[in-house]
Amino acid sequence: MTTKPTKIYLKDYQAPNFSVTTVNLDIKLFDDHATVDSVINMQKQSEGDLILLGRDLQLIQLEINGQIFNEENYQLDKEQLVIKKLADGAPLPNELTVKTQVKIVPQKNTSLEGLYIAGEGDDVMFTTQCEAEGFRKITFYPDRPDVLAEFTTRVEADKKFPTLLSNGHLIEQGELANNRHFAVWHDPAKKPSYLFACVFADLSVMQDKYTTIEGREVLLEIYAKEKDIEKCHVAMQALKDSMKWDEDNYGRAYDLDRFMIVAVSQFNMGAMENKGLNIFNTACVLSTPEKTTDPRTSSVKGIIAHEYFHNWTGNRITCRDWFQLCLKEGLTVFRDQSFSADHQSSAVQRIEDVDILRSAQFSEDAGALAHPVRPESFVEINNFYTPTVYEKGAEICRMMANMMGKEKYRQGTDEYFRRYDGQAVTVEDWLSALSSVDKRTADFIKWYRQPATPTVTATSDFDNESKTLTLNLSQHSRHVAGYDKPIALPIPVATAIFDKTSGEILLEKTLMLTDFEQTFTFENLATEQAPVLSLLRDFSAPVNLEFNQSAEELAFLLEHETNGFNRWQATQTLVNQVLKNGDKHYKEVYLKAVQKAVHQLAKTDPMLATRLLDIPSERDLSLLVKGDYDPQAIKAKREQLKTDLAKFMANDWLNLYQNLPMQAYEDTPQAKGVRALRNTVLAMLLKTTANTPNFTESCKLAVSQYDNASCMTERLGALGAMVNRENEITDEIDFNLVAEKLEDFYQRFADEPLVIDMWVAVQANADCTSLDEIQALIEHKEFDWGTPNRIRSVIGGLANSPVKLWSEQGLDIYLGVVAKLDHANPTLASRLLQPLARWDTLVPELKTIAQAKLTDLEKEVSSKNVLESLGGILGEK
Ligand code: BES
Ligand code: ZN
Repeated sequence: MTTKPTKIYLKDYQAPNFSVTTVNLDIKLFDDHATVDSVINMQKQSEGDLILLGRDLQLIQLEINGQIFNEENYQLDKEQLVIKKLADGAPLPNELTVKTQVKIVPQKNTSLEGLYIAGEGDDVMFTTQCEAEGFRKITFYPDRPDVLAEFTTRVEADKKFPTLLSNGHLIEQGELANNRHFAVWHDPAKKPSYLFACVFADLSVMQDKYTTIEGREVLLEIYAKEKDIEKCHVAMQALKDSMKWDEDNYGRAYDLDRFMIVAVSQFNMGAMENKGLNIFNTACVLSTPEKTTDPRTSSVKGIIAHEYFHNWTGNRITCRDWFQLCLKEGLTVFRDQSFSADHQSSAVQRIEDVDILRSAQFSEDAGALAHPVRPESFVEINNFYTPTVYEKGAEICRMMANMMGKEKYRQGTDEYFRRYDGQAVTVEDWLSALSSVDKRTADFIKWYRQPATPTVTATSDFDNESKTLTLNLSQHSRHVAGYDKPIALPIPVATAIFDKTSGEILLEKTLMLTDFEQTFTFENLATEQAPVLSLLRDFSAPVNLEFNQSAEELAFLLEHETNGFNRWQATQTLVNQVLKNGDKHYKEVYLKAVQKAVHQLAKTDPMLATRLLDIPSERDLSLLVKGDYDPQAIKAKREQLKTDLAKFMANDWLNLYQNLPMQAYEDTPQAKGVRALRNTVLAMLLKTTANTPNFTESCKLAVSQYDNASCMTERLGALGAMVNRENEITDEIDFNLVAEKLEDFYQRFADEPLVIDMWVAVQANADCTSLDEIQALIEHKEFDWGTPNRIRSVIGGLANSPVKLWSEQGLDIYLGVVAKLDHANPTLASRLLQPLARWDTLVPELKTIAQAKLTDLEKEVSSKNVLESLGGILGEK
């Protein structure tokens, strides 16, 4: 709160004065502290000071080239150790051997960054999180991604921690006096310090093997608590699938003899790609049918793939500086999305990915925290692990890959690996490798530099005489304050022209919009009447499309489009028309078209059928309003449409439900689709029958699904459907049922934290849960300020309920949590602020309240993480 934190600029990048060849670490864990001895061999690259970064470290000893340093020989502040000369006054020579000894207190480290304590009692363990700048909390080091070195790590602790791990290969282990032991790990691959990891724990292990395409036999290990080991099969299979996928699709094989994953319950993120020693949030690695829902299981597989894929895109080729974060994250997200698309219907995968992109990234781009995929400045890098860097970053890679075609894209990535393996590079380097194969990719640097989501406006005209279709496309981007005036971006618009009579495709083509406005003509179309256009197929670019199509045309596309994504998009465009303009005609067409499609697809593609019933969330709908955002009004409109849909298909739900019988659990796209559709149908059934004599019957179905569930997806689906109707229940018996099932669920899974997270979330997300009840969840004995998963399961529910969130009490609760975490875990505190960035679009009464509360919070907090986010949100650039 005192001095303004310093901003760091991309344009100020300077290469380090000293590189590191080898590092030897010796980390000894004791009951109330740890010591870290390090020996760093360095080489001068350019004249200047030696800068070692360090935070919260107690320096015990510093020796360089055999000379002991004392306080007069160096400058030490809260952030760094600066050495200008040797202790004897001689200039720094070309070769340095820097030895330091520091003391740290991981037992008191609540930030989940650096070496920190996780778990408690018998489950206590110590683990590390070094990305982005956590290594400097372990020892003094040039902790920046462009310094790559070979690490040897000795870890030593009491034998109550039998599991001693670090990166690479185990080269030595042994017993010591006083019930202590040690292990020495050597990582032959040069890496930046953010990929360092070590673990002190008492864990069980699941082992397997994989032989790479190059013939290397790799030992695969997943470490977890003994009772969780049985939940590691999904992750292990996903790991082997990922290793194979990267060989098949990118020609990349794993390069060490060992690959380890460790499951940790206290983790800020999903998972971390440390070289040879990935560390995972338990929620992102453990999965078993009885305790994990289908979407979670799919995300476990995707995250395993993501972290594994970083071995090439991130670890072997890393980032020169943190401004280039999208280089590893955007590309790796694109890779994990492609992997997942090969394991389920690619249309459904695309729908899911675009859904996330639009709700998280488009809203970021529309609000006060908008920034380019490659930012130009930051105060705290942890604030830039954003949907823009990740999701929009992935879209840029996807656009280029699609434009190049499979073969050329592969040539481009091969060239990227050939040129830059073992180096720390920039977005320009990535584009230069790709453009050596396809020159057009060079132009995509514009996407990396310019913030805000472009809007593409389309108009079309058909001349019946000459059978010529004219399509006019234009683009426009919001001018974000502090950035250059927007320029035209290269926007691929995948297009299909349909014959209206036959429903057949007349022409398919990806149009490249590179100017602000362009006209495309299609002559001699073999059709009798004006054709139907389908634009931006498969969401070919991360843009908002404005294209006025009649309700009939949209219904036509829902029926005839061969691209599954655009079929879904047709339903969403219809819904948006209804919600935005209250258009009755669109509504009628929508209801009929969806009803028909759901019946057609219920058997053949139940997952797509489920998605066609999507109505955007209240949060997503707030994006459609340009100003005077009234959460209550949006909620009412949305509820109305849902009710209309439930009623329109009132006679269908029961039939659909009965045609989707529960079966023994299977992990196949078809079985997952059936479960998803059944849950959606059940919720609709409870909705249509609420306050009717049939309600008790519907409740019985829900109860029976709950009681006889073969897996968590079925059980939680039934519980959620019941909880969400609780406010409409008038019958005492039905009412008690819900409470009974909630209690049953709690008792059944009391010793499964990840399931209790779901139990909390289902309540926190329910419409009928009051703010007092949300507050009670925070005060509940199961709440835990040290476990981000638990915090997110409550606070996420509030963020998903804008009517509750944007109120005095809602903001008090929400911002109270942020304030409480500001000191203990600033990374998490700051991330929680993201959903608040568009407060300034609220209706005046709410806007005033929000501004006052956010301004109050600013006076209360002190971490640079939260201060930077709040400053951005409040528009104090
Ligand atoms: N490198 C990140 C994890 C990370 C981010 C650590 C920020 C520290 C600070 C990892 O590769 C990642 O991106 N994880 C994602 C999941 C992934 C599937 C997108 C996460 O943790 O959310
Ligand atoms: Zn990542």
